Amino acid sequence: MEMKKRIISAVVAAASVMSGFAAVPSTQAEREKMDAFISDLMGRMTLAEKLGQLNLPPSDDIVTGQAIDSNIGAAVEQGLVGGTFNIKGAEKILDLQKIAVEKSRLGIPLLIGMDVIHGYETVFPIPLALSCTWDMDAIEKSARIAATEMSAGGVCWTFSPMVDISRDPRWGRVSEGAGEDPWLGSEVARAMVRGYQGADMSRNDEVMACVKHFALYGASEAGRDYNTVDMSRYRMYNDYFPPYKAAVEAGSGSIMSSFNLVDGIPATENKWLLDDVLRKQWDFDGFVVTDYGSIGEVAVHGLEELPEASVRSLLAGTDMDMCSFGFIGTLAQSLEEGKISIEDIDRAVRRILEAKYKLGLFDNPYKYNDVKREATDIYTDANRAEARRIAAESFVLLKNDGDILPLARKGKIALIGPMGNSVVNMPGTWSVASDPSKYKSLLQGMTDAVKGKAEVVYAKGCNLYEDPALEAACTVFGHDMRDPRSEDELLAEALAVAADADVIVAAMGEASESSGESSSRTDLSLPATQRRLLERLLATGKPVVMLNFAGRPTVMQWESENVPAILNVWFGGSEAADAIADVVFGDVNPSGKLTMTMPVNVGQIPIYYNHLNTGRPKDPRDPSFQKYRSNYIDAPNAPLYPFGYGMSYTDFEYSDFTLDSDSLSPDGSLTASVTVANTGSRSGDEIVQFYIRDVAGSVARPVKELKHFERISLKPGESRRVSFTIIPETLRFYDYNLDYKAEPGKFEVMVGPDSQRLSILPFIMQ
Ligand code: BGC
Repeated sequence: MEMKKRIISAVVAAASVMSGFAAVPSTQAEREKMDAFISDLMGRMTLAEKLGQLNLPPSDDIVTGQAIDSNIGAAVEQGLVGGTFNIKGAEKILDLQKIAVEKSRLGIPLLIGMDVIHGYETVFPIPLALSCTWDMDAIEKSARIAATEMSAGGVCWTFSPMVDISRDPRWGRVSEGAGEDPWLGSEVARAMVRGYQGADMSRNDEVMACVKHFALYGASEAGRDYNTVDMSRYRMYNDYFPPYKAAVEAGSGSIMSSFNLVDGIPATENKWLLDDVLRKQWDFDGFVVTDYGSIGEVAVHGLEELPEASVRSLLAGTDMDMCSFGFIGTLAQSLEEGKISIEDIDRAVRRILEAKYKLGLFDNPYKYNDVKREATDIYTDANRAEARRIAAESFVLLKNDGDILPLARKGKIALIGPMGNSVVNMPGTWSVASDPSKYKSLLQGMTDAVKGKAEVVYAKGCNLYEDPALEAACTVFGHDMRDPRSEDELLAEALAVAADADVIVAAMGEASESSGESSSRTDLSLPATQRRLLERLLATGKPVVMLNFAGRPTVMQWESENVPAILNVWFGGSEAADAIADVVFGDVNPSGKLTMTMPVNVGQIPIYYNHLNTGRPKDPRDPSFQKYRSNYIDAPNAPLYPFGYGMSYTDFEYSDFTLDSDSLSPDGSLTASVTVANTGSRSGDEIVQFYIRDVAGSVARPVKELKHFERISLKPGESRRVSFTIIPETLRFYDYNLDYKAEPGKFEVMVGPDSQRLSILPFIMQ
């Protein structure tokens, strides 16, 4: 009761951004203070209240002013809920928090979570696109803005960053991650956690991150979502674990376990994963939450039923049960049966309470309920300007024959294609809080951009797919965009519109829900109806620019051979329309580079730049098929567009690549340098990439690994020397025994504009 009073009497400051509430303890004394507070609180909790803290049920659809009458409201009042998620609306959340604080026996505040994956109402590009900026400041800024907006909406915990490495674009969730590279993925993971959590989560616009999905979710077999994962520890440690570890080191307050098996045991109850690796090897001191219903899925995988799965999950190190109701429903009985001890429960409860303490919720349970902020801090002009700038940075120019792009603002521009006038498809998958009623379609964005100077005319040209069932599967959540007219009618209209135009912009690709969760595909090429439309548009003889909307790498060899200019625009978020116009009309020079390889065909998958060499690599100088070499009879090994690739409206030249020594001592350093010059006629940004190859290791090492990059801006005629300092730490990897070390021997350092066009210099590590 005393604590409850203390919480209720907390002062809710009126300032728009409050600070000074409890934060992640940084000194021993602060830690002891937190421990004492939580011990005292736990001493007064019943078993049911303890299990309540471990329970993360869905929010239901609570209506403003009605929280008290909802199922979740009743459970909160009884102290049976630790948190809930995906409610939009500061008032609704305040109502619920008030029940927890003012009506439950101990007044323990709730954790309020949400899948804020790439922004709240100001939506940034999908994470895969964001990573193509290679701009860590921009990525951190996007997370900072997301945190500011979500906290103004009453949410204090985001289920992000998703850092699952994936080499399989069939998997729809590649849209949510940062691509295929563990080193770049780690940089992104750190930037996101910093952006969300700020300095120490003491301010009311700093929220708790939840890195996910631990672990290996991106390696589902055949790219089918939720499918089996099986891999060597060598690969886990070197290729898949680094971004999770980076997020943990950056202080992520929580981590979400994945749906998949790890070594035959669901991650949710895998003690090796959650205890040995996460807690003992990486010193993680936050809490572990399951993914949605995953304890309940243990039996479906072919293991134990819910009660036993709950026991194993708890003992493995899972602290919070998302939506399985296994902890709240079965652990009391398991305690009675002696399958777990109260210490096992207490350990998890303590971690949840610590998270609430670190968020400052015990100092002020309404810290995130300054409802006035909802009107002032969300979808602001400043946030939108950042989203527009960052979206334009994320587009990747794949091809630009004859410098068709940028387009002049003159004459008649035909915008044609199924993605040209669909607002709901602009933000991209997993944008729970987005409000498309506030956003522009591409047609609107382009029309605004040329106002008074040129005319934009539009026709849809075709549906997304000819098959309505296929289209329906890709346009869920109210994103329906089906045109009832026949394919022929749509085509005829488009050709009539195009006939009159000077240039054609073809807005093609996937719908936003073709990627994301449960959106695996086996055919990654443009649907036949869209291809047919493109063919007919090209046949007009007019210049055609293709904008490719995609949540994953697209298979587009035909387009790449036939369409003169291709700009990959992914899903650019709430401001995508203006951002696309900025690049199409040359106000912004594109600078994005791919973070996932674009294959020639689906048969090449998995395809990734940092592969092992094999004992029989193909001789790259001879493009034809080589018998008894590692290659295909019917396709090249090389991708269509490699990792790191992306063009600009200007040209960059690399020269004078040097190493200041060819030998690295165990405590020394080497510096590789290159001169990069802008030899074109526009200012532009270049992402200069450095790779390393460990030529001979105690285990096979990749043909190259990204180890450094710099994003530089150069004016026409300007050049810059870009350097990369190599120290033994740079060369470390997990060996056969999983020891993290650098081995003496031969190495190569490489530099270039992408992972294929590289200059190479050798060196030795002593
Ligand atoms: C997804 C998670 C998400 C959770 C809560 C699950 O289906 O795999 O990424 O955070 O739902 O919405």
